[in-house]
Parts: sequence; structure tokens; C-alpha cells
Amino acid sequence: MIRNNPVMRTRQSGSIGVFDSGVGGLTVLRTLQQCLPQESFLYFGDTARVPYGNRTPREIIQFGREIITWMLTQGVKMVVMACNTSSALALDEIRQEFPIPVLGLILPGAKAAVQQGDRIGVIATPATVQSDAYYRAITEINPQARVWQVGCPEFVPLIEGNQIHTAKTRTIVASYLNLLIEQEINTLVYGCTHYPHLAPIIEQLLPPTVRCVDPAGALSQAVVQELRVLGLGRAPGRPGQCRFVVSGKPNHFARVARQWRSDIQTVETVNVKKAYRMAPLLTKGELNSVDL
Ligand code: DGL
Repeated sequence: MIRNNPVMRTRQSGSIGVFDSGVGGLTVLRTLQQCLPQESFLYFGDTARVPYGNRTPREIIQFGREIITWMLTQGVKMVVMACNTSSALALDEIRQEFPIPVLGLILPGAKAAVQQGDRIGVIATPATVQSDAYYRAITEINPQARVWQVGCPEFVPLIEGNQIHTAKTRTIVASYLNLLIEQEINTLVYGCTHYPHLAPIIEQLLPPTVRCVDPAGALSQAVVQELRVLGLGRAPGRPGQCRFVVSGKPNHFARVARQWRSDIQTVETVNVKKAYRMAPLLTKGELNSVDL
């Protein structure tokens, strides 16, 4: 009987791991918490290695492996890649390596985009643009859709450096958006989880006819459904908790993140590379029974 199965009980009470290179994934965490207030979350920002957007696929895959392996040792029941770069470059490669569900942004984002329009601009990191993941996902769903992808390498350093509200940032944002406005797009996809932090600027600069799509909404719905189908969700009631952990400087993360979240008290640090090295011999089954 499922109700009396101790593993199943522990799995339901486990938290949901959410990771990104830095503060970008907070835009996904916000939506997840709105949809699933009873769930607890373990947020990891890989701030020692941010930005991810100019890394190679090999690096991104290895970072994902290290982070998810460490998250398993913390008792997560599911992992959300709150990072488009990881979702584009690593999800297909590594999701099968782990005994828990791992979800990413590209497919939910593409599905949400085609519901809004057929002239679709995607702003993303250079690595995500180079992977062509959004182009492929969108045109697979709607072969008639036109897609323009623009890599915006300056955005993440500006956001992580707490430089959002400066004239320089506005000028840089405008220069990238103009490339898409010239193509007469009717839909804009936030193809990097950092970029919704720039939404107040972006939405002012775009013509009012352009609809903005944040893939976090569709991803959160996919998470809700996956929890339900697998019987992993917590019963509604007590609100869940959130733990924040980074690989870099905790004070800097807290300072930047507090502009969006007043609930950040403690930020812990972890060396996920070391944690991964210490757990190389744990097989899928062992990780499942030891840590969940
Ligand atoms: N926020 C991540 C993404 O969605 C990573 C950005 C970066 O570190 O370059 O792609």
C-alpha cells in the first residue's frame, strides 16, 4: 500500500531542487512557490561559475551533474533546471542518469510561445542561441512559425552586478530589442531566467503589440502535473520552506536577491564539485535509497 510505504512518504516530504548560475532562477522559484505554496525548495545559485552563457556544452553538462548529485544528498524529490542554458545543453544528456525527475524550461517555453504568436523573438544567452534549442522546439510545434534568436551576453553580468536600474543597462537592452523590433515580432520569449528581472525595462521598450512569454509559468504547470502524476506532491496545508545555497559569496547573493525577496535570511555555501567527487560511486539505486 502506497500510504504505508516509507520510501514514498519520505519522497513526498522531500524538497524540490531548483538551480541556476545565480539569481536568474529566482524568477522561476517565485512562480513555483505561487503554484505550490505547500512545497519546500532547495535553491542553488552557482555564483562561483556564473555566467553559464559562454560556457561549452561539456562544462554545462558537468556542472548539472555535480549540482543534481549534491541535491540528491540533500533529499530532493525532483530537480528543476531554472536555467535555460542548462536546459538547452544538458537536460537531454543527464536526466536519465538520476533516479528522480529532472525538468527544464525549453519545451514548456516553446509551447507557451506558439500559443501567443507566430513571429517569435527569443532573447537568450549565447550558448542557448548557439544550441538552437528554442528554434527547434518552436518549429517542431508550429512549422510555420518564424523565429529570431538574439544572444545578449551583457545582461547576466549587469543583473548579477546589481546594475539593473542604470542608463547603461537601458541602452544595452534597447540595442538588442531593436534587432527584434525590426523583424516585427509579435511575441518575445525570455529565453534566460535572469531576463525577467529586466521586464520593467523590456516591456517599456517593446511596442505594445508584442506579447512577452516567461517560460517559468508553463514550467511550473508541468511541475504541478508531474508531482500529481507521480504521487510526489505534499498535501495542501502548512506552507513550505526555502533554503538558499550558493557556490560563491553568500553576502553578495543575499544583497542582490533581497531586492526581489525579503525572506532571504541565511545563505549557505557548498562546493558542489567536491560533493560530486565524494559521491562518484553511488549508483542510481543507492542514491535513491540512501538519500530519499
Ligand atoms: N539564467 C541562466 C539561463 O537561463 C544562465 C545565465 C548565465 O549564467 O549566463 O540561461
